[in-house]
Amino acid sequence: MGRAERTGGRRRAERLSDILGGQPADPSELAEIYDLEHDLIVQDLAFYRQISRRHSGAVIDLGCGSGRLFGPMLAGGASRLVGVDGSPSLLERAEARIEADPQLRAARADGRVELVEGDVRRVRRNDRFALAILAGVVAHLDGPEDALRALSSARRLLAKDGVLVVDTLGPAGLPARDLPLSLDWERSEGGRRLVRRSRIERRETPEGLRVSYATLTDVVRADGTIARLPASWRLWYPSPAALVALAAEAELAVESVFGSHDLDPLNEESERCIVVARPTTADPGKG
Ligand SMILES: C[S@@+](CC[C@H](N)C(=O)[O-])C[C@H]1O[C@@H](n2cnc3c(N)ncnc32)[C@H](O)[C@@H]1O
Repeated sequence: MGRAERTGGRRRAERLSDILGGQPADPSELAEIYDLEHDLIVQDLAFYRQISRRHSGAVIDLGCGSGRLFGPMLAGGASRLVGVDGSPSLLERAEARIEADPQLRAARADGRVELVEGDVRRVRRNDRFALAILAGVVAHLDGPEDALRALSSARRLLAKDGVLVVDTLGPAGLPARDLPLSLDWERSEGGRRLVRRSRIERRETPEGLRVSYATLTDVVRADGTIARLPASWRLWYPSPAALVALAAEAELAVESVFGSHDLDPLNEESERCIVVARPTTADPGKG
């Protein structure tokens, strides 16, 4: 499927949803580096496989990025997968991932995988889902108002017995102090040397932790030339209590809160905060 075949409009006003657009560096290069980093995250894959098995049916992955979770969710038994993201560059990579994976490719050939360019704060569809996922996305929203929009939008997408999973950093996963520009990692990839540095500035606010996260990636090519790719994001981490309160405001009843993908209870030592919620209204599609 080419970009033109995706539903959703690229030139809509909501460019705020494209976290790689508007950066000083080329979005497709940033997307490639994003994948190099995020594809190393595998500790949550079993969780997403299991939850797709438990809530079998159609799944919508809101803020799917390059589709890292697609394989596990399909393997878990998702009857249909819809991935929504605001970044065209990451969706291009999701397309490549589908193409490279025989199971995903076959499911797409059967019409069971769909990619949509859109804003998670306002997804409108006529179909309903057994499972909606917001994994690593809330941090990119601009605070409680946007989070409420995203949660309400997700709730409207759920089938009667549908479940929403919101997965974000827990208390112990958050940066405890500012970090000056420091080396994160170095690696060789495709004949190039990549050197990643980042800087973190944090600010406690009544609505949660605000983090300004800036990265600088040097791509050292075989001929010795260096491309320097800067990028920066404003991230937001609500406390678990604030996230649960927002879920209630979005007419979602919290069923469980976990502190890890192994389903440990949430406490101050938890690296993750995973909220599983169901619509409180009889007709979740309303409102
Ligand atoms: C940290 S990544 C997580 C990707 C994926 N869920 C995963 O777990 O691998 C956050 C994703 O949310 C997307 N995103 C952030 N804000 C968005 C918005 N308002 N609408 C759509 N996508 C958004 C970004 O483009 C990015 O792909």
